[in-house]
Amino acid sequence: MLIKNILALMRYIQDYNFKDKKALIRVDFNVPLNANLAITDSTRIDKTLPTILQVLKDGGSAILISHLGRPKKGYTDSLSLKHLIPYLSNKLNTQVSFASDCIGIEAITKAQNLKPGEVLLLENLRFQEAEEQGEAAFAQQLAALGDVYINDAFGAAHREHASTYQITHYIKDRLAGYLLQEEINNANKLLKHIKRPFTVIIGGTKIGDKLQAVEALLGKLDNLLIGGGVANTFQQALGGKVGKSITEPDQHGVALNILYQAIEKGINLVLPTDVVIADQWSDRARIDTVLSDAVPENWMALDIGPHAQELFQDIIQKSKTILWTGPIGAFEFPSFSQGTQATIAAVAKATQKGAFSLIGGGDSATAVAQFGYTNRVSYISTGGGALLAYLANPNLPVIKVLGN
Ligand code: 3PG
Repeated sequence: MLIKNILALMRYIQDYNFKDKKALIRVDFNVPLNANLAITDSTRIDKTLPTILQVLKDGGSAILISHLGRPKKGYTDSLSLKHLIPYLSNKLNTQVSFASDCIGIEAITKAQNLKPGEVLLLENLRFQEAEEQGEAAFAQQLAALGDVYINDAFGAAHREHASTYQITHYIKDRLAGYLLQEEINNANKLLKHIKRPFTVIIGGTKIGDKLQAVEALLGKLDNLLIGGGVANTFQQALGGKVGKSITEPDQHGVALNILYQAIEKGINLVLPTDVVIADQWSDRARIDTVLSDAVPENWMALDIGPHAQELFQDIIQKSKTILWTGPIGAFEFPSFSQGTQATIAAVAKATQKGAFSLIGGGDSATAVAQFGYTNRVSYISTGGGALLAYLANPNLPVIKVLGN
């Protein structure tokens, strides 16, 4: 299906009257929390406020459902959505109530008793295994809590989970929230008019998701710059020594296929020539700079080196369309933030010269904000893997089901 058709078929919240309706809103509140469980970057929450406020303004009530992190099994206190209540209540100017499970008697009672103007937040969906398994019975229980379903969770648009996909089979009115619409519009700007050179920069740690989407994007791009944990997986696949760096060995096949296809298609694929290494994941670690395929045992690559930074900057500054997702290094530690900072600076420079720059993913967005570049790039997406997946194939099932 063409992009145009997807947008034309979607139903939007601005065309709906929420008076006396309980709106079940799937949001992506997968926000970073620090050791004190305080939110360190609230962008994903802030960007869904217009959708929630629209429901309340119309005289409806909102039931918010989201995941947070990747809990291994069941309840994990550090991943409870209860930590978000004070921030949300403050932003919405109303006390947000909370149900300690997303299904069951407490959620049902609290949802039933919701009055117009009130907001209920349900506990992390992923504390229930049924969420990621996309279990129909679970989706049905969630759907029964509301009268109308809104998807505003662009960051999870590539996940066909119970709350993003199966649920739509059990609720008649399904709508796209403001954030979802804005994200799709900006991703489409890139897709509809790719000015060349088109450079894609990939970093971060969620390697599998990104590589598969990049594989699908290969036909469209000119330069592919690879940093962060993703680069380690490529180096390892090529037989390089990566010490104890983050890698995903099960993605070696995909990495090699991308390398092979890049050669075949004449894409300029750039892996870091040098890396900054550390003997521990800490700002107090011992540091060195080595060739990227020669990381000693018990050391890990935490940033790209100065030579790679120069190379990245040179290519980015000559680009006319830029897509960047995933930090280039462990930028949370000043000693390993140079690669990410150099990348952002180059993206901002290219944007100033007229390039369209799209930055995706929670961590990249945090880095852009942290280094003061928020207003110097074209658009910051709340999706990382989701953005790549959408650009690779806009026909995402989770978005498609919001059509009539
Ligand atoms: C994200 O942070 O990319 C989204 O919230 C999706 O999270 P996930 O990769 O754990 O599904």
